[in-house]
Amino acid sequence: MKATPHEAIAVLDFGSQYSQLIARRVRELRVYCELLPWDAPWSEIERLRPKGFILSGGPSSVYDEGAPFIQQPILESGAPILGICYGMQALAHQLGGKVAPGHHREYGHAMLTVNAESPLFRGLPEQVQVWMSHGDRIESLPPGFVALAHTENSPFAAMGDGARRFGLQFHPEVVHTPRGKDILANFLYEVCGCHGDWTPSNFIAESVQEIKDRVGDGKVVCALSGGVDSSVAASLVHWAVGDRLTCIFVDNGLLRKDERRRVEEAFRDNVRLNLRTVDARELFLGALAGVTDPEEKRKIIGREFVRVFEAEAKAIGDVKFLAQGTLYPDVIESATPERKAAAKIKTHHNVGGIPDDLGLELVEPLRYLFKDEVREVGLLLGLPEDIVFRHPFPGPGLAVRIIGEITNEKLAAAREADAIFEQEIRRAGLYRELSQSLVVITPVQTVGVMGDYRTYGFVAAVRAVTTEDFMTADWARLPHELLARVSTRIVNEVPYITRVVYDITSKPPGTIEWE
Ligand code: XMP
Repeated sequence: MKATPHEAIAVLDFGSQYSQLIARRVRELRVYCELLPWDAPWSEIERLRPKGFILSGGPSSVYDEGAPFIQQPILESGAPILGICYGMQALAHQLGGKVAPGHHREYGHAMLTVNAESPLFRGLPEQVQVWMSHGDRIESLPPGFVALAHTENSPFAAMGDGARRFGLQFHPEVVHTPRGKDILANFLYEVCGCHGDWTPSNFIAESVQEIKDRVGDGKVVCALSGGVDSSVAASLVHWAVGDRLTCIFVDNGLLRKDERRRVEEAFRDNVRLNLRTVDARELFLGALAGVTDPEEKRKIIGREFVRVFEAEAKAIGDVKFLAQGTLYPDVIESATPERKAAAKIKTHHNVGGIPDDLGLELVEPLRYLFKDEVREVGLLLGLPEDIVFRHPFPGPGLAVRIIGEITNEKLAAAREADAIFEQEIRRAGLYRELSQSLVVITPVQTVGVMGDYRTYGFVAAVRAVTTEDFMTADWARLPHELLARVSTRIVNEVPYITRVVYDITSKPPGTIEWE
């Protein structure tokens, strides 16, 4: 791993569901940080030359056997430390305070009263709302620490040793702590002395230089899907190496309405990069004929994609590098095996991915970026907003939105219905507020009536969700008038669909896609 040229914060992950969120908030505050497992080798942590440490929450109790702990070099480094929830308890425990099992778990909103002067709460009112989620609590503070704030149930809701080491029993990283970002900003700027040198334009300049150095005069290929990640990765590489990059766009017959034209216009006509469109519709649809099992569909699509891509890369000749839009959350998840296992509900989740054995060296310029940062970079590179803010679309495309066998009629219906739903969401001004929207064509047929005629057709399910990270999601409370328009239009304009239902399942227990 490379050393970072930026001032950096090391966020140590003790297993909380909010760990990534802490890292994202720090980045939003324009300070570079990396999320590392609590037991990462010291050399990997030190490489960042951290100006401070943030210790995340976690599910353990400090008294559990094998409980995670704060590595000694962190405590001895002299750099500021902010412990959050479990991070605070570990700090208290290891520095000589006392942590005891909480007799009642504190979960949800609480009112925090700040009762001592400290840089952490500078500029905040005396009382702020915070989000609590903990079992154990601190009974006595370590020597040299004082209580900085309390809630009704936590006399030590915040602690500090004066200038350098702090603990928060609540979660400043979640939206339910409305002033949480100010508290984190105080830690970064007032306590650690950061200046905020992590900006998208700095990133682009450094990244372009790095790609140039790496690739030299070699040739690069990139599988362009039209999604934001591969689009931004391709644009960055194009800035660095120009026409030595060739992008391959595979039309697998499972794309959204007008998707191919949109991608071709954006990249060939606007960005003017080398784009090869492969019309592989017959190949994919032929291989999928008669297949109903979701896993089987994913496997076939993955396999055919690799074949097509490999043949194209060979045809270009002499290719040495493969550019991919891997993002930081994927990197974090593959570094933490338990997280990866938990995330893998559907196999072949990276359908549309390319296996390691093609003999190509990977160029992954977005490897340390979160999605929001990728969008900022995309805009700065001049990509159209339509691409930068596009809802995600799965690699297996409409194949996992048509339950059961894929037919041309159902594909046409899925395309039309999806286009109507998207159009109405945009008209209502809600596209950016939603994280993803989709239409599923179910195999269920029901009776309806149109004019004086009996109809008998398929049920379409529309789904819209909001989410921070796609690991959990809530169904969107869309206005009834919008749902009414979508339903009327789909039933009237899309052949085969005679009924529309709205999916009100959150994730978990439902996944976002139906298959
Ligand atoms: P689920 O359905 O598992 O999806 O809640 C979470 C996110 O991942 C997308 N998704 C996929 N993306 N290949 C992909 O590239 C896939 O096979 C795949 N399956 C789901 C899904 O659209 C959502 O954004």
